Amino acid sequence: MSLYADVLQKKCKTILDLQALKQAGEKITCLTAYDATFSTLFSRAGVDVLLVGDSLGMVVQGHNSTLPVSIQDMLYHTQLVSRGNEEAFVISDMPFMSAASHLEAAKNAALLIQQGGAHMVKLEGARLDVIKFMVQQGIPVCAHLGLLPQSINQLGRYSVQGKNEAAAKQLLQDAIDVEQSGAQLLILECIPAKLAKEISQILKIPVIGIGAGVDCDGQVLVAYDMLGINLGKQAKFTKNFMLQADSIFNAVLIFINEVKQGKFPSLKESYQ
Ligand code: KIV
Repeated sequence: MSLYADVLQKKCKTILDLQALKQAGEKITCLTAYDATFSTLFSRAGVDVLLVGDSLGMVVQGHNSTLPVSIQDMLYHTQLVSRGNEEAFVISDMPFMSAASHLEAAKNAALLIQQGGAHMVKLEGARLDVIKFMVQQGIPVCAHLGLLPQSINQLGRYSVQGKNEAAAKQLLQDAIDVEQSGAQLLILECIPAKLAKEISQILKIPVIGIGAGVDCDGQVLVAYDMLGINLGKQAKFTKNFMLQADSIFNAVLIFINEVKQGKFPSLKESYQ
């Protein structure tokens, strides 16, 4: 059976389910996944969204940034995650330079959806024209604002974004613009909690945060961070859920529970 037929037979969550969660005030849970086993385990535990993040370049491939990740790498890992997934909504990352032109963006996104089985693709930055073009072609888009890891060589270091008034104003405007351009989800990375709260309240689309405080509509973590197996420097916004659990499955259940109850992230894991 083809991967596509496999995916069709599953009753996965849809963008409508995520919108309904936002409307009901219930938090959305999201973890990164890069292979079939973790994908099955996370979706079976009840995680709403699996993100095949290009963070795989660092935690799986051992690079020191996400820049070397190719569209072929993303396709391969998206296929593995789609195969293992039981019920979650799957988002696949557009890697560095895979959206350099409108056409290239649409073709690469189509690859991740048609051959990878992704339900949506994620694009870093307020690339309004590219988002509009992809949406016109019927491609569901998740925008990603705040800290943009693919811009590390422009930024110089991984740091909190939107800290001063001008930067915060720009971020808010970018968030409004990506929604108006047709993005149906937004990920906010490493921004002050107050700004993320304001954006989440203004936007109609669900906003999922990482290092963006508790008031986003949902939370995403890199799975290796929340399982305590990322041996590099731990960012302030991560939490090792294995410290409270006797199995990976139970750690994921605790993550889901703490997110749904608004207990994670706490002030300790947020930027003011
Ligand atoms: O690649 C990734 O894992 C991501 C998350 C950090 C949001 O983009």
